[in-house]
Amino acid sequence: MSNEKKNKVLMAPSILSADFSRLAEHIAVVEKAGADWLHIDVMDGHFVPNLTIGPVVVKWLRPHSKLLFDVHLMITHPEKYWQEFAKAGAELITFHSEVACDKAELIKRIKDAGLKAGISIRPGSDVSSVMPLMEQIDLFLVMTVEPGFAGQSFMTQMLTRIELLRRIKEEKKLNLHIQVDGGINAETAVAAVKAGAEVLVAGQSVFGEKDPAKALKSIKKAAEGI
Ligand code: DX5
Ligand code: ZN
Repeated sequence: MSNEKKNKVLMAPSILSADFSRLAEHIAVVEKAGADWLHIDVMDGHFVPNLTIGPVVVKWLRPHSKLLFDVHLMITHPEKYWQEFAKAGAELITFHSEVACDKAELIKRIKDAGLKAGISIRPGSDVSSVMPLMEQIDLFLVMTVEPGFAGQSFMTQMLTRIELLRRIKEEKKLNLHIQVDGGINAETAVAAVKAGAEVLVAGQSVFGEKDPAKALKSIKKAAEGI
C-alpha cells in the first residue's frame, strides 16, 4: 500500500479571507474541494483590535453548507454571546484562555447544549493555564500568530507548544483535536503536522489565492504526505 496516507489532516479554511459579498459561493468552492470544517473568526474590537462578524451571518450561511461550523470567538465576553452562535448553527465553539469568565463552567454549558467546546491561547500566554481544562475540552487551538488579522506570518516558536500538547494528548489519551491557526500554507502546514497538529486553519493561503480549491488541495496534500 505504497500510496497509503500516513496522516489524516482536517482542513478548516477561514472565511475571514473570503470575499464577504460572495460568502456562500466561496464556501461551496472549498467544501467541494475537500474542506472538513469551516472556520469562522469572530472579533469584537476589544479582545482583539478588529471587528468581523456576528451570529446573524452564521445564521444566513448555515443552510448553504454541510461543513462543521467551527466558530473561533476572539471576544472578551464569550459567556454572553456563545448561545447566539449556537442558535445560529455553530457546532464547535472555541473561546480564549485569556478571558475572565469561569472557563470550566463555560465549557460545561457549551457541551451540555450538545456542542463541542474548544480553548484557544495567544502566542504569549502561558500554556499551563489551560492544563486543568485539558480533560474537558474537545479542541485545543494553538494560535501561531497574534489573533486579530489574517495574512500574518507563522510563528515557528509555537512548534514546541504544538509538540508539547500532542505529547500530553497521547500520554493522557485525551479525546481532543489539536488545531493550529495563523500563517498556515503548504510549507508551514507540514511543520505544524510534523509537530502534532491535526486540524489546520488557513485563511489567506486559501481564499487569498486565485484558485482557492487548488490551494486548499495542495496544502492538504502537503500536510498529509509527510
Ligand atoms: C487570526 C484568525 C485566523 C486567521 C487566519 O486572528 O484567528 O483564523 O483568519 O488567517 P491566515 O491563515 O491568513 O493567517
Ligand atoms: Zn481563527
